Amino acid sequence: MRQLYLPMRVWDAPTRLFHWMIVVLLGTSWATVEYGYMEWHKLSGYTILTLLLFRLVWGFVGSDTARFSRFLRSPLAAMQHLLHMTKREHDREIGHNAAGGWMVLVLLSLLLAQVVTGLMSNDDISVEGPYARFVGKDWSDWATHVHSIVFTVIQITVVLHVLAVLAYFGLKGQNLVRPMITGKKRLPGNMRAPRMASPLLALVVLVVAAGVVTALVQFAP
Ligand code: HEM
Ligand code: HEM
Repeated sequence: MRQLYLPMRVWDAPTRLFHWMIVVLLGTSWATVEYGYMEWHKLSGYTILTLLLFRLVWGFVGSDTARFSRFLRSPLAAMQHLLHMTKREHDREIGHNAAGGWMVLVLLSLLLAQVVTGLMSNDDISVEGPYARFVGKDWSDWATHVHSIVFTVIQITVVLHVLAVLAYFGLKGQNLVRPMITGKKRLPGNMRAPRMASPLLALVVLVVAAGVVTALVQFAP
């Protein structure tokens, strides 16, 4: 019997907004440093930090597909998933697949490392993060060095991330980008839809995250 595929909401709006805002802000962080708008560079970094704090909490209290417990599977499961990479088949993943889950964790960790080192960085002239003086010149110089290296690693990881998305399209015939925009996928009709968390809860988490970042910056010792 032919399988019936129906549209199902798999990504909530907060997770989708988080993703595309990170894409825009990462570009902004690069451009502002490239053209010397360092106050905007810091502001862009604080916004990324706010979004990251939001996403970390959302990974515990958010919709099913946003939860770490749901998409972080064993490395073995990730390897097994990759073994089927060249098999053309209909997408049956309700959230991130076993390999994609690890990519998410790596990207989030790198972004966090980038922002945390930024808070302690200095440019040896007039620009410094709010914690540069607190940690002292030696640590600040080290953080600046790491800040520069991590950005290169982020660039490489993002290229791999986009290549992986293209590979799903080319090799498996699966379009993962459309669901990240619309939130919906066509999945077998007998699959159970994931539970979506309240957008109001997302707003509360975002406001608290913004408050924490503002306090971190304003009350830096
Ligand atoms: C600055 C560059 C990018 C970064 C840092 C980034 C980061 C991420 C992160 C952290 C996630 C996990 C989302 C979550 O669960 O919260 C993700 C998922 C995803 N990203 Fe990106 N991304 C970038 C660019 C792109 C681009 C350009 C595309 C489109 C070609 C894209 C397509 C996707 C898709 C389709 C998913 C969901 C994958 C799945 O179905 O499991 N990303 N990305
Ligand atoms: C994800 C967010 C961020 C990204 C992608 C980013 C990216 C970069 C890049 C590419 C550079 C140039 C490094 C080099 O010269 O090789 C840089 C420098 C710098 N960033 Fe960030 N940054 C971020 C967040 C922050 C934050 C939050 C702060 C401070 C509040 C900060 C402060 C600095 C400073 C002071 C420099 C100058 C260091 C120097 O001249 O060598 N950054 N950043």
